[in-house]
Amino acid sequence: MTDTTKATQDRVVIFDTTLRDGEQSPGATMTHSEKLEIAGLLDEMGVDVIEAGFPIASEGDFEAVSAIAKAAQNAVICGLARANYKDIDRCWEAVKHARQPRIHTFIGTSPLHRAIPNLDMDQMAERIHDTVTHARNLCDNVQWSPMDATRTEHDYLCRVVEIAIKAGATTINIPDTVGYTAPRESAALIRMLLERVPGADRIIFATHCHNDLGMATANSLAAVEAGARQIECTINGLGERAGNTALEEVVMALKVRNDIMPYRTGIDTTKIMNISRKVATVSGFPVQFNKAIVGKNAFAHESGIHQDGMLKNAETFEIMRPTDIGLADTSLVMGKHSGRAALRAKLRDLGYELADNQLADVFVRFKALADRKKEVYDDDLVALMQDQTTSA
Ligand code: KIV
Ligand code: ZN
Repeated sequence: MTDTTKATQDRVVIFDTTLRDGEQSPGATMTHSEKLEIAGLLDEMGVDVIEAGFPIASEGDFEAVSAIAKAAQNAVICGLARANYKDIDRCWEAVKHARQPRIHTFIGTSPLHRAIPNLDMDQMAERIHDTVTHARNLCDNVQWSPMDATRTEHDYLCRVVEIAIKAGATTINIPDTVGYTAPRESAALIRMLLERVPGADRIIFATHCHNDLGMATANSLAAVEAGARQIECTINGLGERAGNTALEEVVMALKVRNDIMPYRTGIDTTKIMNISRKVATVSGFPVQFNKAIVGKNAFAHESGIHQDGMLKNAETFEIMRPTDIGLADTSLVMGKHSGRAALRAKLRDLGYELADNQLADVFVRFKALADRKKEVYDDDLVALMQDQTTSA
């Protein structure tokens, strides 16, 4: 059984490429054991396809893909290969140990990318036919990508996608390699391929977006609405330049806004925070504080109005619960914008129950402290309370 059977009208396949496209970020190199550990976490959280690496790229990449292929319990294990037999054979050698192996082969089809191997349109079409056929003779699960698809002429894109399908590709990935597309165009491209390419109804279309204009998540979701049933993404949006579509964003968007985007994934979202922290640590790429879903401030509230609202009803300022992504709780950050209600709640958590007049007094001193410090920590509040008791 291949993962493609999992994609249905409402089920979207999650293809994680943290270990391949993510690791291609300059400086994000991971060790063999770190890659194995991340692959284990991806497998456990319900990722359908793990792109484990680029086996021809180095001996280390080959070893990592083979080890991940042997260890994986549930996910399809995929390796990347350029459009030549040597790459494809090496990829197969690495992934063949998996319960469910996949070969992913690609070639740049836009005018700019066609110029690099100096192939004309017909020569490239022939290369695609031969390499996809070769991959399919080795493995019954083959993904093919026309790199820079969003800047490829539509007629040519339809022609080569048809060739790849006829040669046996089971998933056709449509990469927005340079993060150039926009949601409406991303959707229109998938719709056009579904309408124009014979055999398109027999395969899964994937969307693979980069974030150069900050639209990777929106573009991926638009492609799904148009009929794509595989999203390619990375943890924390790790990836070259501005990164790839962030797994946590598309998965949580589909969960929180299922009313308007009625598609499911197989991801256990309570595992998101743990893997996000792990990837940040091993890649050496910290997560920005205000990053959607996994940023330090994504579930933190400082202003008095927000804290007061949150204490009364969490839905006032949160559209998902921190526990949904595996965080213990919302954090009420104490700072100069915080109000009395939050101070009272915080002090209560720290073991201080105050009468109104005491609270009024502490509140004045707390504000004076908050004006001097960016954030007032629990220890600062305890010290404030100790001063209060000594001076009383
Ligand atoms: O962005 C891209 O085009 C890629 C391909 C190799 C799929 O990562
Ligand atoms: Zn990419």
